[in-house]
Amino acid sequence: METATGSPGATGWRTSPPSRRIVQPWCGDGRRASDRQSGARPGQEHDTVSRDHRGSRQVSASVRTERLALRPFGEDDFKAVRSYLSDPQVMRYVDDPYSDKQVRRFLSRWVGDDPPVLALVRRGKDKVVGHVVFHRYEHPDVYEISWVLHPKYHRRGYATEVGRALLDHAFRDLGAHRVFATTVEGNDAACRLMATLGMTREAVLRKSTRHEDRWLDEYYYSVLDTDYADRRG
Ligand SMILES: CC(C)(COP(=O)(O)OP(=O)(O)OC[C@H]1O[C@@H](n2cnc3c(N)ncnc32)[C@H](O)[C@@H]1OP(=O)(O)O)[C@@H](O)C(=O)NCCC(=O)NCCS
Repeated sequence: METATGSPGATGWRTSPPSRRIVQPWCGDGRRASDRQSGARPGQEHDTVSRDHRGSRQVSASVRTERLALRPFGEDDFKAVRSYLSDPQVMRYVDDPYSDKQVRRFLSRWVGDDPPVLALVRRGKDKVVGHVVFHRYEHPDVYEISWVLHPKYHRRGYATEVGRALLDHAFRDLGAHRVFATTVEGNDAACRLMATLGMTREAVLRKSTRHEDRWLDEYYYSVLDTDYADRRG
């Protein structure tokens, strides 16, 4: 379960010691943990992402809430994105903090008009507060969601607000059958967020994630179309 030091990942060259690896699928940057850890070549990783998105458009960038909007990243977002992706506390349960080079690679990767990783911005000011990963996962009607926000914007209900909007989008507009999210033991904010969104903790992968010389449980949460319909009456 180690990433070879210096092996290329989807967002840059990994140089940190394997003992710090966290196995958080897609959480930070839209990469699958197994890709990161297997040392897969960049092309292979990218193919995995592309395959999930080929075929039909999800256009999540059209999602708006009262305070927030989603949009594709641009190169001008470098400073804003570096400010949170390089923060060890933010990245604690996601990945190693990103270098400038990794941030640039992250930004150059998630361009286009319907990317799986979208900037989360304050409406009006277009201020980047973080990003959301929202993408099809293996089946056309199954989606994964995750969030990474700048610490300045934590605990303001932003992740809940955009999460609710994306669940509405998934079930109402995209005809999703299932939306899931993963996190790890100790990430209380993510666990609370998923519970607030009405996601059920459906699986625990016991001590499956290597993090700072410890093995952590990995949690899978989901909401199904039937749950969503029940809640809406
Ligand atoms: C997880 C994260 C996205 C939550 O974003 P957020 O905008 O602060 O979340 P919200 O303000 O919508 O809060 C959602 C719930 O979590 C709770 N919460 C937020 N931060 C918390 C924390 N540090 N500890 C415990 N609970 C927390 C809130 O009180 C709220 O609970 P409630 O619905 O019962 O009132 C944010 O903490 C983050 O970006 N963390 C770093 C990256 C990460 O770990 N992402 C998760 C990967 S899936």
